[in-house]
Parts: sequence; C-alpha cells; structure tokens
Amino acid sequence: MHAQTGYRPTAALKGLLVATVAALGILAVTAGAASAADPAAAGTAAGGDALMARARELFKPLPATLPMVRNNAVTREKIDLGKMLFFDPRLSASGIFSCNSCHNLGLGGVDGLETSVGHGWQKGPRNAPTVLNAVLNVAQFWDGRAEDLKAQAKGPIQAGVEMNSTPDRVMAVLNSIPAYKAKFADAFPNEKDPVSFDNVAMAIEAFEATLTTPAAPFDQYLEGKADALTDSQKAGLELFIDKGCAGCHNGVNVGGHDYFPFRVVAKPGAEILPPGDKGRFAVTKTADDEYVFRAPTLRNVALTAPYFHSGKVWDLRQAVAVMGSSQLGATLSEQEIDKITAFLTALTGQQPRVDYPLLPASTPATPQPVFK
Ligand code: HEC
Ligand code: HEC
Repeated sequence: MHAQTGYRPTAALKGLLVATVAALGILAVTAGAASAADPAAAGTAAGGDALMARARELFKPLPATLPMVRNNAVTREKIDLGKMLFFDPRLSASGIFSCNSCHNLGLGGVDGLETSVGHGWQKGPRNAPTVLNAVLNVAQFWDGRAEDLKAQAKGPIQAGVEMNSTPDRVMAVLNSIPAYKAKFADAFPNEKDPVSFDNVAMAIEAFEATLTTPAAPFDQYLEGKADALTDSQKAGLELFIDKGCAGCHNGVNVGGHDYFPFRVVAKPGAEILPPGDKGRFAVTKTADDEYVFRAPTLRNVALTAPYFHSGKVWDLRQAVAVMGSSQLGATLSEQEIDKITAFLTALTGQQPRVDYPLLPASTPATPQPVFK
C-alpha cells in the first residue's frame, strides 16, 4: 500500500493521464520502428536527436500522477480539507490572509511582489516562491529550513509578518465551525482528536501535492515529441546544458534539489543580493553556507516574476544574464539570453484546475479578527 490509497483523480487529472499515456504511446512506436514516413517519429529516439538524448540524461518529465508524499497518506478527503484551509483567511489573525494571498493559484502560485506583504501591511524579507511543484523540492524555503510541506505549513500561519496567528487560535477557529470538525473527522478517520494543528499541516500538504504542472512543452519533448519545442527553444536548451545552467537546475523539477552560493563566480550587486540575508547560513551556521540558497525550480518561471530571493529582478531575460555572470562567469550575448529565455518559457506546464472551495460560515464562537 502506498500514499495514493483512496485517491481518486479529478476529471482534469484524468485528462492529463490520458494525454501522458498517449505521449508514451508515441514514444513506444518511435522506439520500436521509426519510419521515415511518420513525421512524429522523425528526429526522435535512435539516431535523430542527440539533444533529446542529452536532455533525458539530465531532466525527467513531470509525471501526471500524484507524487508520493513522505509520512502522509494522501486521500481525497485530506485533499479537499487541505484546499479549504489553503483558501481560508481565518487561519490568519486578521482574517485577511490565506495561503492563496501570497501563493495565488491563478498567478502561478506567487504574489507577484518583490517581497510579500502580510499582517498589518508588513513587508517580509523574501520573495514568495511558487507552491506549484513545491512537493518535488528537496526541502522548503529559499534556505531549505523546513524539511517538507507539512513542516513548512506551520510556519506562515504563525509568522508575525505573514498570518500572525497561533496554533491555539487556529484550533479555536476550527473548533467553532461544526462543518470543519466534520471534515477533519472524515479526513483523519480513527483518530481520537482529528482537529489538530498537525493535521492542519497534513491536509495542506496533501492539497499542495496536487499542485503539479505536467505536460509542459519541455515534458512533451522529453517524452519523445521532437516538435514540442521551437527551434529557438531547442537552441536555448542546448545553451542551458552547454553553459552549465543544468549543473544546478536539473532533475524532474529543473532545480529545487540542492544549495549553491549565489555568487559562485561573481557577487551580484547589493541591490540584487542584499547583504543582510545570508541564506542557508542561518540554518547551518557554517561559514561555507553564507549567501547559499536553494537553486529554485525553473518550472513555470515565466509566470513567477519578480526573481531571486530578493525579488529585485522583474525581467526573466535579466535574471538569465545575472545567472550567467554570477554563477558561470560568462557574459551571455543578447541572442544567447533570448534563446535561453525562450527555453525557460517551455517549462510552463498545465496549471492545476482548482475550483474555489466554499468555506463554512463562522459562528458566534469563532474568534474575531484582530489587526494588531
Ligand atoms: C504574507 C505572504 C505569505 C503567506 C500568507 C503564506 N506564504 Fe508561503 N511563503 C511566503 C514567502 C515570502 C516564502 C519564502 C520564505 C523564505 O524562504 O524564507 C514562502 C514560502 C512558502 C513555501 C516554500 C516553497 C519553496 O519552494 O521553498 C511553501 C510551500 C509555502 N510558502 C506555502 C504556504 C502555505 C501552505 C501557506 C498558508 C498556510 C502560506 N505559504 C502562506 C509568503 C507567504
Ligand atoms: C552554481 C549553481 C547555479 C548555476 C550554474 C545556475 N544557477 Fe540559476 N540559480 C541558482 C541559485 C542558487 C538561485 C537562487 C538565487 C537567489 O535568489 O538567491 C538561482 C536562481 C535562478 C533563477 C531565478 C528563479 C526564481 O524563481 O527566482 C533563474 C531564472 C535561473 N537561476 C536561471 C539560470 C540560468 C539560465 C543559468 C545558466 C545561465 C543558471 N541559472 C545557472 C543556482 C545556479
């Protein structure tokens, strides 16, 4: 038995599964007997496309199936509850901020701000990374300080600059709303005390596991569809590999799996790398980790400006140029930047179709919003 027990894919997911199976079908045919008469087979698999073969060594297509989640059996009931919690602003003290305020699922899972604005109009220290495909990252946050999504979810609820609540307050809110108590009982059957702060985090993690974006043009390419990328995207992919970008941004999430100094070769200016934020140093207290950050996933990067943990760069082309000089010591030409940027747009996948959940009404017992 694995974590998917009891999970039933939504109609949208089923469609994706069918699409993926179809893509794999093409792959099987071309691998078996590539005929020159078959345009779909031209340039794929054996012989034709050396670039595709190189790409397959470094990257993996994003599966359309629900990813495995460590120590959390993902069920339909947990996903539904987690979705409600993700959208419910009553998890914040002010009743204004939900997870979706800063990880807007209509906007690529981000807030589009330099750094996030939370409780009391306070500006936080870092740019909000996307929740899309976050389940595939090695650990959460720019510095990896939360080991997984269930550990991560407890952070923002309590952070003073974000939702500014407390576990006790969240429990008081949920226990005051009978429909929530029933939902927790469904999602965590056989538990004596299903409404708990731990289970809030478990349910949110289960919902976040559904927020993957398969079937990007690059995934289709990796699955054998040679014409899924345009010529300039292919040229960009080649540069992305040859220049060394893929050394840090690779694997199924095209990043998200390891930490690197943001100044391997040259230190970006203080306007892009503010000296006060030493990144992973705050987690490990090791001098080697000063200004070290997780190389982010580049999936959907065209949707998630502004860029870097500082959020100081608004143009994806400029972010590519900065990476060339800071990480590789290379001054990329305008044409190279254009091609790499074109490739990065091929990482935009199918966005999750999320129906806005109906949230149960508060009762007179529900704690009232506080703004201080
Ligand atoms: C006020 C804005 C704000 C709110 C509200 C908020 N977040 Fe975030 N979130 C951020 C910021 C900023 C970061 C990056 C912080 C850091 O790295 O130190 C972040 C990081 C994350 C990450 C890590 C992603 C990665 O790639 O590392 C996840 C997952 C996440 N938030 C989920 C949530 C969930 C779930 C909620 C609701 C319980 C939530 N966030 C509420 C702003 C917010
Ligand atoms: C040595 C490892 C390394 C190499 C090589 C590298 N990167 Fe990065 N990349 C990172 C790290 C670390 C960050 C996060 C920097 C930060 O904000 O602190 C990053 C951030 C980015 C971002 C911003 C993403 C976002 O969501 O804010 C883009 C875009 C990017 N890299 C593209 C590239 C490209 C294109 C190349 C090749 C020209 C490249 N990277 C080479 C490690 C690397």
